[in-house]
This record gives sequence, structure tokens and C-alpha cells, in this order.
Amino acid sequence: MELAILGGTGDIGEGLAMRFASDTDHTITIGSRDAAKATERASTYEERLSEHGVETGINGTDNSSAAAGADVVILAIPPHHVGDTVEALAEDDVLSDQLLISPAVGMNGDGDGLHYRPPSTGSVTEFVAERAPESVPVAGAFHNLAADRLADLEATLDVDTLVVADDPTISERVVALTADLAGVRPIPAGPLSNATEVESLTPLLINIARYNEDMHDVGVSFT
Ligand SMILES: NC(=O)c1ccc[n+]([C@@H]2O[C@H](COP(=O)([O-])OP(=O)(O)OC[C@H]3O[C@@H](n4cnc5c(N)ncnc54)[C@H](OP(=O)(O)O)[C@@H]3O)[C@@H](O)[C@H]2O)c1
Repeated sequence: MELAILGGTGDIGEGLAMRFASDTDHTITIGSRDAAKATERASTYEERLSEHGVETGINGTDNSSAAAGADVVILAIPPHHVGDTVEALAEDDVLSDQLLISPAVGMNGDGDGLHYRPPSTGSVTEFVAERAPESVPVAGAFHNLAADRLADLEATLDVDTLVVADDPTISERVVALTADLAGVRPIPAGPLSNATEVESLTPLLINIARYNEDMHDVGVSFT
């Protein structure tokens, strides 16, 4: 399968690229607003994978080209820009039947910590769905995973990720994709209207990490 990670030059994009490259046979392409930056970052990821005994190629290109050739597109882009990015893809006419997955979470911070700030649609995931062409399925996942922990291939994972999608068959596709990642358990959490609750866990996790020395890169695990 062809997997594109837009904004794959950033933190969560890097973590997901490293894990999908390490744990699956999918073809991974990272996208960027700057194709040269994506190419350079892809080489860096390849080198780090190779150091861990994983010999695999990662492609780097601009966001549109990455999305155009993909079956699944992960939108690893800051919340205030992910909607515009999806609209730009639609304008470039590169979206047809790719599955879009949003991990984006709206937050702002003050001296105490980070606070959940969803858009008026209720969640960034729903905001993305509103911006995507009607024929393009949108799901939410990976919101509560810690980027640094994913990117560190020495780190063992034992975390859950909640999956939201309106169509149960889309949810099943995301669950199947994610289940290939060692130590990441995908859990369906209902339709997109439930994304608010899923996304709101992310600032909580970051605040727990901030106030507890030994809980950096903490995740959720439901028992
Ligand atoms: N970091 C985490 O642990 C984590 C965990 C779960 C979910 N998330 C969510 O995932 C999303 C990305 O987080 P992140 O920490 O990876 O962010 P980030 O590193 O700050 O940014 C990711 C990438 O977004 C691209 N970008 C920046 N501004 C943009 C713009 N105006 N238009 C289009 N692309 C732009 C950049 O790529 P180029 O410059 O190469 O285009 C950048 O490398 C956020 O919504 C966040 O809430 C993050």
C-alpha cells in the first residue's frame, strides 16, 4: 500500500514514518511544502532506520505529489493549517478516493499547561472532514501518541490509539493499518462527532508529562 504522510518532516510525521517503515511493507512517502526538505528528511529517516537494521526506502516530495500517489494520507500538520492543506489538495485535483487520517489537535498554552481549543466544528478531525471533498473518506487517529517515543526505535510501545470515522468500514481500514504497528493497539471510538473527546486527551497527556519527571512521552492504555 502507498502511504503518504503530509508534514512528514515534523514531529508526529517523523514518528509515524519511522514506525510504519520499520513495522510494515507499505511504501512510505513524506510530504512537505518544500519538496527538497522532504527529500532531505527522508534520507535522514532512512539512515536512522538503517542504523536499526531496517533497510527500506522512504520517498520525499511535495505534499500534493505525495497525496496524489497514495492510498492513505496522514495529515501530520498543525491544526490551524490542516484545513487549508486539504483544500489546496482538492484545488490541485489530487484527491479522489484516498483515505485521509487526521491526528491534529487544537491546543493553546499558558503558564499552567496546554488547554484543548477545538474549532467551532467541535474537533479538528471534523473540520478536516468538512474541508475534504464529499467523496473522500476522513478518519481520525494517532491523536494521543507521543511523537518522540514513536521516532525512537529503541523505545518499546504499549499504547492505544483511538480511531474515529463515520463509516465503520473506514474505521476498520484504519484499525487494520494501525494494528501492524508493534505495541500500538487501535480502538474504534465511534463516529467523527466523538473526535472531540479523543482529541481532548492530548493536552492532558502533555500536561502529565510536564508535571511528572518520569512520564515523558506518556500515552493512553485502556484496560
Ligand atoms: N507532536 C506530537 O507528539 C503529536 C502527537 C499527536 C498529534 N499531534 C498533532 O499532529 C499535528 C502535527 O504535529 P507536529 O508536532 O508534528 O507539528 P510540527 O512538527 O510543528 O509540524 C509538522 C509539519 O507541518 C508542516 N507545516 C507547518 N506549517 C504549515 C503550514 N502553514 N501549512 C502546511 N504545513 C505546515 C511542516 O512541514 P513543512 O515545513 O515540511 O511543510 C512541519 O514539519 C498537530 O496537529 C498536532 O496536534 C502531534
